[in-house]
Amino acid sequence: MDVVVRKADPATRPAGLLAVGVAERAPLAGPAQRLDRATHGALAALLATRDFTGAPGQSALLYARGLRARRVFVVGLGRGASPERTTLLRAAALAARQARELGAGTLAIALDGTAATSPEDIATIAEGVLLGHHRHTAYRSGSKAPLKRVELLVPRASEALVAAAGRGVRRGEAVCLARDLANTPGQDLVPSALAARAQEIGASTGAKVTVMDVPALERLGMGCLLGVGRGSVNPPRFIVLEHAPRETKRRGGRPLTIVLIGKGVTFDTGGYSLKPREGMSKMKYDMSGAAAVLGVFASLPALDLPVRLVGLIPSAENMVSDRAVKPGDVLHALDGTTVEVTNTDAEGRLLLADALGYAKRLEPDLVVDLATLTGAISLALGRFAAGIFTRDDALAAGLIAAGEAVGERLWRMPLWDDYRVEMRGGDTADLVNSSERREGAACTAAAFLEHFARGLRWAHLDIASTAWTYEARPESARGPNAFGVRLLVEWLGAFARA
Ligand code: BES
Ligand code: MN
Ligand code: ZN
Repeated sequence: MDVVVRKADPATRPAGLLAVGVAERAPLAGPAQRLDRATHGALAALLATRDFTGAPGQSALLYARGLRARRVFVVGLGRGASPERTTLLRAAALAARQARELGAGTLAIALDGTAATSPEDIATIAEGVLLGHHRHTAYRSGSKAPLKRVELLVPRASEALVAAAGRGVRRGEAVCLARDLANTPGQDLVPSALAARAQEIGASTGAKVTVMDVPALERLGMGCLLGVGRGSVNPPRFIVLEHAPRETKRRGGRPLTIVLIGKGVTFDTGGYSLKPREGMSKMKYDMSGAAAVLGVFASLPALDLPVRLVGLIPSAENMVSDRAVKPGDVLHALDGTTVEVTNTDAEGRLLLADALGYAKRLEPDLVVDLATLTGAISLALGRFAAGIFTRDDALAAGLIAAGEAVGERLWRMPLWDDYRVEMRGGDTADLVNSSERREGAACTAAAFLEHFARGLRWAHLDIASTAWTYEARPESARGPNAFGVRLLVEWLGAFARA
């Protein structure tokens, strides 16, 4: 899809679909007013019906004379002079979704010279278009013609606007890449394939990518990752991505280092603690944390991030076989901790334990992990927020604010010592990987991780509640949605600006 910024009059520009935003309960202005005049009052007639008021999320499709465009798509931008960022993103996504459904070919978006045409707004609109348009079609034999061209029509084009559109496209593509990864069936996205995708991202962005195979993991001593992966013919991998800009912010003379960790279980059967059939059906997306980390790295060219960013992806397939880890087996984590596997379905925390152990060796300033870790986080929060677990109030505040800004909500969850006590080993090992009690399972999982994160400034995001879209939204089709990419890009952007 080509996205271009173009100086043009929306009334005379040909397009399959022409989108225009309208503010809520305000006189028509800017391009909406221009189009209303050209159509002899089609927009005013729409508003007069009260079918459409300009509220966020509202839209209407018009067929009007007086324009070169075949159809007009009117979207609500809400109250106030300048629309909120998430409103703008969703409005653009809605237009792209509509254009795709209509097979419109070209989508033109009429923008004015003031409210919605700051460079960052242009970036948001471009990003929204990509998100709304995205479908995972790799396994479809035929699908409706996707959008070929998007024109952002402005009264005055400038290099700043063109660059901003490019940034937005990059960010949108990175989210779509992460969605495609999480959508890919487990048969095709095994750990080695995930590693190959990471290497491609490294090659296209300049990030250095190192992939460790089983012998390397044995030399390192990543017993937990090896234990989870050993039941599969598709062996585990540990993937390290590193973005090392020449100019970095410093802390105490050392470059500021941020580590992102993503759970990369390419399929989770549960192992011998087998999942019931409904619980297993979506488990190809159990690498959504890893996909989010890769999405962030794919966004780097749009970020210009002045910090050393390291991505860690422990990846394995959780399977049943004669070699698979069994309940009662004891694994040796990288940091020396021994863990009795009381439930083979609590595999994500085992992967993250070794990744946290590895992270510690990098002496990072901040560590954030993302994982589809527990079903329990959905019981606690529904589908409306991911859980954030950290003892660090400043880190929590920064991540929560970033999520709020992009519409990826986080809700603070507790990390109390009481939960960690439940994870102490019984008679056998230092820890158990699963509490005897089911209550508070998202919290005991986080407490298990905390054991391996001691001494780090660390936050854990349990995204099992949000990483799958159940009912289509403007900015996301049904299925894996790459939750976390936009949140982290926004959060990291704050370091670039500071
Ligand atoms: N991948 C699952 C968690 C999950 C469940 C993600 C539903 C998305 C949707 C994880 O590996 C798991 O199985 N967790 C167990 C933990 C339990 C054994 C303590 C769970 O949530 O049941
Ligand atoms: Mn599991
Ligand atoms: Zn899992």
